[in-house]
Amino acid sequence: MTALDTTKAWQNLFAHAAREESFHLREAFATDPGRAARFTFEAAGLVADLSKNRITDETLKLLVQLAKERGVEDWRDRMFAGERINLTEKRSVLHIALRNCEDRPIIVDGQNVMTGVDAVLKKMMTFSHAVRSGEWKGYGGQMMTDVVNIGIGGSDLGPVMVTEALKPYAHQRLKVHFISNVDGTHAAEVLKPLNPATTLFVIASKTFTTQETLANANTAKDWFLKAAPNKQAVAQHFVALSTNTEAVAAFGIDPANMFEFWDWVGGRYSLWSAIGLSIALSIGFEEFENLLEGAFEMDEHFRLAPLEKNLPVLLALIGVWNANVLGFPAHAVLPYDQYLHRLPAYLQQLDMESNGKSVTREGVPCAWQTGPILFGEPGTNGQHSFHQLIHQGTRPVPCDFILPAISHNPLGEHHLMLMANALAQTQALMMGKTEAEVRGELKPGEEDLLTHKQFSGNRPTSTIVMKQLTPATLGALIAMYEHKVFVQGVIWGVNSFDQWGVELGKQLAKPILAELKAGQPGQSQDSSTKGLMDRLLAWRNEK
Ligand code: F6P
Repeated sequence: MTALDTTKAWQNLFAHAAREESFHLREAFATDPGRAARFTFEAAGLVADLSKNRITDETLKLLVQLAKERGVEDWRDRMFAGERINLTEKRSVLHIALRNCEDRPIIVDGQNVMTGVDAVLKKMMTFSHAVRSGEWKGYGGQMMTDVVNIGIGGSDLGPVMVTEALKPYAHQRLKVHFISNVDGTHAAEVLKPLNPATTLFVIASKTFTTQETLANANTAKDWFLKAAPNKQAVAQHFVALSTNTEAVAAFGIDPANMFEFWDWVGGRYSLWSAIGLSIALSIGFEEFENLLEGAFEMDEHFRLAPLEKNLPVLLALIGVWNANVLGFPAHAVLPYDQYLHRLPAYLQQLDMESNGKSVTREGVPCAWQTGPILFGEPGTNGQHSFHQLIHQGTRPVPCDFILPAISHNPLGEHHLMLMANALAQTQALMMGKTEAEVRGELKPGEEDLLTHKQFSGNRPTSTIVMKQLTPATLGALIAMYEHKVFVQGVIWGVNSFDQWGVELGKQLAKPILAELKAGQPGQSQDSSTKGLMDRLLAWRNEK
């Protein structure tokens, strides 16, 4: 594929940006009453107002040309058709099959993958009904009260984020917990209050080789076996979610208690698969299906809507405009909904593990920036912390504000206050405050505060609103971000579906662990690592 920076559309965009150097959102709104309506788009229960970005009709036209020139439609269609677009791992990319609610056949290697998808969904339904109803009993004949998902990365972040987001739908008796960190503190603190006789462990690992997950799963098994009458009891208390049947059996879980998925489900795209079992246990299988349906609705929009009106495509293109053309290196996601408090962490993996790449699919170094540095916090907490930098820092940080109209907890005026704050933030970032406005507010003797109190404004934001956070709207929201990340990967020409960058640390941890166990750093360690190992070992040896 031709290099991004040699495409006509790319060059046109930079020329356009130079012509629009004096663009300011404040004037754009003052002179164009139709701006918000023209730049507001809808799909699958979500409404996105993109008008507070530094864009004009011409910008969007050029960005859409860029998407066309980069083959976004073709790559999208190839993904939906099950082609092996994850080139470095030679895999199809089919999270969309997991929520293909119309059961459109998707053929990989001559097989319709929907047969397997439907079978696993059915197994998840039967199992989650049994556990939730209390029909599934532990070794002492009691029903389960707690579920502990043990996994990391995509085998943790999606399920945590969704179960937190959908707490209003959670089962009254069944509490869902998560252990991810290899720090023993995580397992110790989660297990402390639990009763082994009423705890179900869900070991979630695509590969079933991940060091952290296996360490935590073994610790959980030891903890369980201290109380259980015999090893057979493991069958009632441990299930596995994996693609690796042999490793699951070797760990001691009966493959009958394994919920399968496939190599074409990427870890960070896996919450829709068997990896979502903890979600189905928490909110019930019917609501899990609503989550899938919301995502499916967004998939259909992404698949069929013209690029000019395609929400994930437009978000992706505006992200490229902000990051590459305007040169803003970061991106903040600010959910104004406490239930979405883990969304930024989830999106960090989705976005940064997918597009944190510096070579193209062909292995050639990228001469342009790729994935942004993503961070976020629920509003309004962020307002009293890092929003200062977003308002007045030297580098603008484009933000997504996410806001439902109706709260699940309608307490007094709380939700109106929350909405007012979200809207005020986007307005302040757009308008800023001019020197004349500050002068008008200064009291006598406060002249030295003049520049401190000014806001440049013109800081880009997108506002995504929905009626209420439900399984369906959440499904649509997550799918929207998945497709946005995919489109950006296509524009930048990188493979968004591998993650070689996490391997080196894993490799190096092995010899370091062996040397720490032996109490002696190896000769080949660099002086910094050796010095730190010496210090840490010395402290551990002090009585
Ligand atoms: O190390 C990164 C990673 O491979 C992620 O991509 C993945 O989500 C996570 O580890 C967990 O992997 P697994 O599900 O195989 O345990």
